[in-house]
Amino acid sequence: MKVIKAKDYEDLSRKAANIISAQVIIKPDSVLGLATGSTPLGIYRQLIEWYKKGDIDFSDVTTINLDEYRGLSPGNDQSYHYFMQENFFRYVNVPKDRIHIPDGEDPDSDRACRDYDVIIKKAGGIDLQLLGIGRDGHIGFNEPGAAFGLETHCVDLAESTMAANARFFGDKDKVPRQAYTMGIKSIMQAKKVLMVASGREKAEIIRDAILGPVTPQVPASILQMHPDFTLVIEREAASLI
Ligand code: GLP
Repeated sequence: MKVIKAKDYEDLSRKAANIISAQVIIKPDSVLGLATGSTPLGIYRQLIEWYKKGDIDFSDVTTINLDEYRGLSPGNDQSYHYFMQENFFRYVNVPKDRIHIPDGEDPDSDRACRDYDVIIKKAGGIDLQLLGIGRDGHIGFNEPGAAFGLETHCVDLAESTMAANARFFGDKDKVPRQAYTMGIKSIMQAKKVLMVASGREKAEIIRDAILGPVTPQVPASILQMHPDFTLVIEREAASLI
């Protein structure tokens, strides 16, 4: 595990964007596993800026997002399809047919998840997986207790996750109760994993994930076992490690 400390959020965003940029320069047809949440926003802004300057080209890149709320259409402004479109894809040149996000509208959860695993395999696996971390240690939407051996599956969101995400929906009752997410096994199969964490509210869970025992109760703790795991962390989030 490599831990890279950043002095603030801007620094974190630039450092993590540099790692993604280096990946795409070294392997232009990289398969990037992408993440939502507020933490990666600065990374996407930085990558867009470098793209506009001509410093990075996504024309051969494939992207595979971690997760999507079950039941939300791509046009719903709270869906992760919408998030990715508005915060990244509309500004860069990832070809549309190489952008993959679980189909939250597919009511057949087994089919939706199976299809997604096929997409990941057909792409040749993920070269670099970007991750945030939930306050309860979730990665993607793999909540505490999630089996480490799962690939893409449908999850019931934890109450604490719905509460944390209520800020985007205005009201906790509007937060979907389920999501389709890549599993821990899918994440661990990525060749490289890059996690970003920012803010004092992540300090305890980062301490538990990085220094505590590897346990399904802290899903992110499994990353201690990944052969190529990098954590880019801002000072406040790193205050307990
Ligand atoms: C959501 C996403 C996660 C993300 C988490 C933390 O639950 N499914 O992938 O890591 O939020 O988000 P934030 O970065 O806003 O704290």
